[in-house]
Amino acid sequence: MSETSETSVVVVYHSGYGHTETIAKTIAQGAESVEGVKATLIKADDENKDWDAMAAADAIIFGSPTYMGSVSGQFKMFMDESSKVWFTQGWKDKIAAGFTVSGSQSGDKLNTLIQLQVFAAQHSMVWVPLGILPGNNSSTASVEDLNRLGAATGLMAQANTDQGADVAPQATDHRTAAKFGEHVAASAKRWAVAA
Ligand SMILES: Cc1cc2nc3c(=O)[nH]c(=O)nc-3n(C[C@H](O)[C@H](O)[C@H](O)COP(=O)(O)O)c2cc1C
Repeated sequence: MSETSETSVVVVYHSGYGHTETIAKTIAQGAESVEGVKATLIKADDENKDWDAMAAADAIIFGSPTYMGSVSGQFKMFMDESSKVWFTQGWKDKIAAGFTVSGSQSGDKLNTLIQLQVFAAQHSMVWVPLGILPGNNSSTASVEDLNRLGAATGLMAQANTDQGADVAPQATDHRTAAKFGEHVAASAKRWAVAA
């Protein structure tokens, strides 16, 4: 855990084409909107990634695109690499949360979030869900609603497959991502005081 009074949130993600990366950045910004919280972005497939930053974090947020209804191969490599940490339960009792981006509205991406949740459980981490009621699910609702994809387990975003990361996922998903980052950071801050 952090040695200073600052709460540390690390966002570890893989992104093949940039969509998941833009969401990761928005989550980090949302986390830093909470007073006393510092957020760090780490690429899961970076050979020189900062394992020490993860070891020192109060919260780790895991993010992967949904590829073939699953986390990406690159993110799975990271999961397997983390078995070195698992042996010593180095992430035990840290806050964990997860997010994913897919091309389809569903795209089977709940499976990706469940993989991330089980992964966090393997590390004995404390899972924080999205924390935002589902939107876009009534006759008066719209895709402009926060949580337009109606997730609960973690953050879901969707990016049209013919659009670049500069425009997709759409602004609603970024607004949801910022709230999610804020929620996880606030949870980590409370948890760090209690621990
Ligand atoms: C190998 C591969 C597999 C994919 N599988 C799925 C899938 O199962 N469901 C889905 O909705 N989209 C799927 N997509 C689309 C991606 O989830 C989507 O383009 C996403 O925005 C990619 O995120 P990234 O730019 O961070 O890599 C797939 C894309 C690739 C390249």
